[in-house]
Amino acid sequence: FHVDMDASETDKGTYPFYMLKEIDEQPNVMRQLASVYLAENGNPVIDPELLEAMQAADRIYIVGAGTSYHAGLVGARLLENLAHVPTEVHVSSEFAYENPILSDNPFFIFLSQSGETADSREVLVNVNNSGYPSLTITNVQNSTLSREATYTLLLHAGPEIAVASTKAYTAQIALEAILAKALGEVEGQIVAQNFDIRQQLGLVATGMQAIIDEKQELEKLSNDYLMDTARAFYIGRGIDYTVSLEAALKLKEISYVQAEGFASGELKHGTIALIEDGTPVIGIITQEKTAGLTRSNLVETKSRGAHIMTIVRQGLAQPDDTIVIPDVEELLTPLLSVVPAQLLAYYTSLNKGLDVDKPRNLAKSVTVE
Ligand code: G6P
Repeated sequence: FHVDMDASETDKGTYPFYMLKEIDEQPNVMRQLASVYLAENGNPVIDPELLEAMQAADRIYIVGAGTSYHAGLVGARLLENLAHVPTEVHVSSEFAYENPILSDNPFFIFLSQSGETADSREVLVNVNNSGYPSLTITNVQNSTLSREATYTLLLHAGPEIAVASTKAYTAQIALEAILAKALGEVEGQIVAQNFDIRQQLGLVATGMQAIIDEKQELEKLSNDYLMDTARAFYIGRGIDYTVSLEAALKLKEISYVQAEGFASGELKHGTIALIEDGTPVIGIITQEKTAGLTRSNLVETKSRGAHIMTIVRQGLAQPDDTIVIPDVEELLTPLLSVVPAQLLAYYTSLNKGLDVDKPRNLAKSVTVE
């Protein structure tokens, strides 16, 4: 088979680690996805057969592992909000060995950067045996999951080499948004018609760049609060909760800080017992409906001694906020709120002198179940 990449794509250039290069590439990946999947008038260009197969479904099942699972949690919200189709998200290693009761006409979406994750493939084998239609969203053309699914959409993110996934996560979410908009439009959903995906991806790209340009600030926060801590928490509600899971995963996998992503309202039901003097708790706040609640939950941890920080969308920002990110449509905020978390993880790992790109015990793609 043939891998499409040139030397510049697999060369670190002046970057000390691939992870930083891949974080930096994200604005361009957004633009690349817009140019591949959007027409000049901004309408999505998605295989009509794929959309028909999805329209015939009464429920969508998203399956993935690790970061791809986290991207699926965002994708479900995009599909439900823009296309009004009920969507479930499953960890592939769990789904493969349960006997889930499926809807009458399920449609499966496999999210996999590598297209080779064994746990996800096991689900796809079962899906194929049952004759259900499927789509693989992957970064690797001709990968196993791509070859074996009914349809494929490529992420066009360029090779991702660092074990900790960054640009694949944001590419998956952007492509899910394009797909949800396309499906919502053929379904006649007004909310999809009004969702200006081209303009939004443009805002996301410039927003990402603005965050990346302030990376020294994030290095300083990492030095001051994350370098010497044994544990840390990211908290949020709804879509911010899903980002907190990914933010915590980034931190733990490369810096070995024991980080947990938590639904902010759930923290007080037990886990708040872990808060000690100075424990970092980072709140992700991008949704108007839940901003006040997450802020109250942060105050609860502060009164137990936590050092609280925030990643907040501009429109909801208050004077004491730590990291303010640009405004985009609320459904797309994960594309921006994750970037400071990626950089915080990067600098914590870097300044601990760890191998950022090849953390201990981990592999880029896991081909055993
Ligand atoms: C491994 C990687 C993770 C990745 C997961 C799923 O555990 O270390 O970064 O998220 O596999 O990989 P996939 O290629 O299926 O997205």
